[in-house]
Amino acid sequence: MSQTFDVVVIGAGPGGYIAAIRAAQLGFKVACIDEWKNAAGGPAPGGTCTNVGCIPSKALLQSSEHFEHATHHFAEHGISTGTVKMDVAKMIARKDTVVKQNNDGILYLFKKNKVTFFHGRGSFARAFEGGYEVAVTGDKPDTLVAKQVVVATGSSARALPGVAFDEVNVLSNDGALRIGAVPKKLALIGSGVIGLEMGSVWRRLGAEVTILEGLPTFLGAVDEQIAKEAKKAFDKQGLKIELGVKVGEVKVAKKGVSVAYTNAKGEAQTLDVDKLIVSIGRVPNTNGLNAEAVGLKLDERGAIVVDEECKTNLPGVWAVGDVVRGPMLAHKAEEEGVAVAERMAGQHGHVNFNTIPWVIYTSPEIAWVGRTEQQLKADGVAYKAGTFPFMANGRARALGDTTGMVKFLADAQTDEILGVHIVGPMASELISEAVVAMEFKASAEDIARICHAHPSLSEATKEAALAVDKRTLNF
Ligand code: FAD
Ligand code: NAI
Repeated sequence: MSQTFDVVVIGAGPGGYIAAIRAAQLGFKVACIDEWKNAAGGPAPGGTCTNVGCIPSKALLQSSEHFEHATHHFAEHGISTGTVKMDVAKMIARKDTVVKQNNDGILYLFKKNKVTFFHGRGSFARAFEGGYEVAVTGDKPDTLVAKQVVVATGSSARALPGVAFDEVNVLSNDGALRIGAVPKKLALIGSGVIGLEMGSVWRRLGAEVTILEGLPTFLGAVDEQIAKEAKKAFDKQGLKIELGVKVGEVKVAKKGVSVAYTNAKGEAQTLDVDKLIVSIGRVPNTNGLNAEAVGLKLDERGAIVVDEECKTNLPGVWAVGDVVRGPMLAHKAEEEGVAVAERMAGQHGHVNFNTIPWVIYTSPEIAWVGRTEQQLKADGVAYKAGTFPFMANGRARALGDTTGMVKFLADAQTDEILGVHIVGPMASELISEAVVAMEFKASAEDIARICHAHPSLSEATKEAALAVDKRTLNF
């Protein structure tokens, strides 16, 4: 027996569950299939983001930041705490509770919006005139029929060639989020977003952390000035980052891992650690889809080929999120999910790829939107730059967190904001103003003329906008 829907969504990560909800809001009869299992084997919708990504990593970043404040910064405020202890098991249990709240929240949203949820793997069975048959395998096998299918199957951690994740010694993002005790020595391969966030968590809790990065430059996609400022802060914290290394043999013993590598000077090195986290990027999840059954086109990386509207080569089949081109970010997946649902309903869903913000939730946080100074130079765009340091911001001083700056890049002729780059406290929140401004094609002067609350970190944003015209008031 098969069940018929207007839309079947495969994957309930931020791309899939949001597409399903928006499609249901628009009047479609929607099914969403997801195979993620919680520890008890039950459904755990929310994908990588909810289960082993954005949410749990931010929970651990918060716990570890509290620990670091208690051990290093409370004294400045006159607070003495005695010996501060870290109960790692409790921290992980709290993180699991946060994850479960999000899983349950999505199941509730499905009910509220009348999305039918199927727990299991979804794969293409066949195409027929005007639709598709999608098989659900799992505890309750089923066959779903729909005119439109949205594939939102996400991505998984990329392993080093020949070094499989055992999640005990060699960890992906999954294992990195449930280490049972603070490792004495921890290595990470890749100083990208996960490397820096997870490296920060375990360093704050007392691990000796070394990050081995293949590229000679630190955070190459980030504005150089901002990356340099961030690197200075990480160096000061004792987060050891070795750039330009070539990782060689990785030997895994019962207890611990030995990583052979060549450093930037070409010298052979060995790093012996208790745990190794491999964070060298992610690969799209298309293995279980049976794409060949319907002729769904994949690229050489295994990603689903889509146009800018997320249409695949098959009529009525769409794909969104990490499984397609573009940045692997939850909010990008969500925006694509909404846009696809609206396009299915004949509306004009739109995603502006130029105003997708990035945030790295380290301390200091790093956030940006738009083009970097090096990109503008490469593109031959005449620009003006303005920066303002948090050191000169009253709220940052009161917080005791004056690292970093806000940087504006604006068109030399029109003053239109082309990029905003922040390293410093609450950069993740501050960047929203810049996103709104860029979405409305604001000029730096527009931001400079807007009243910002005092004392607030956002005054640094206003001052950086003023700095574009070389007229900061507080620096
Ligand atoms: P996913 O979230 O990966 O969801 C895909 C879902 O599809 C999964 O539940 C999977 O089980 C399911 N699935 C796959 N194949 C099938 C199938 N055949 N049948 C049924 N179900 C299937 N992004 C941010 O924007 N901010 C952050 O702070 C952030 N932090 C991160 C931290 C870490 C450690 C990691 C790893 C990632 C982080 N990301 C962050 C990235 C973010 O998690 C992804 O960009 C986002 O989850 C992509 O959403 P998605 O819906 O495309 O895929
Ligand atoms: P990444 O692409 O951010 O960084 C990978 C790093 O590994 C790069 O610097 C790369 O040069 C390096 N690398 C690759 N191969 C290597 C090798 N063999 N040896 C040494 N270094 C090597 O990937 P990461 O950190 O795995 O994260 C994956 C994605 O997940 C991110 O790109 C991002 O899209 C998403 N994410 C987003 C977060 C956020 O928004 N705050 C947090 C965490 C992840």
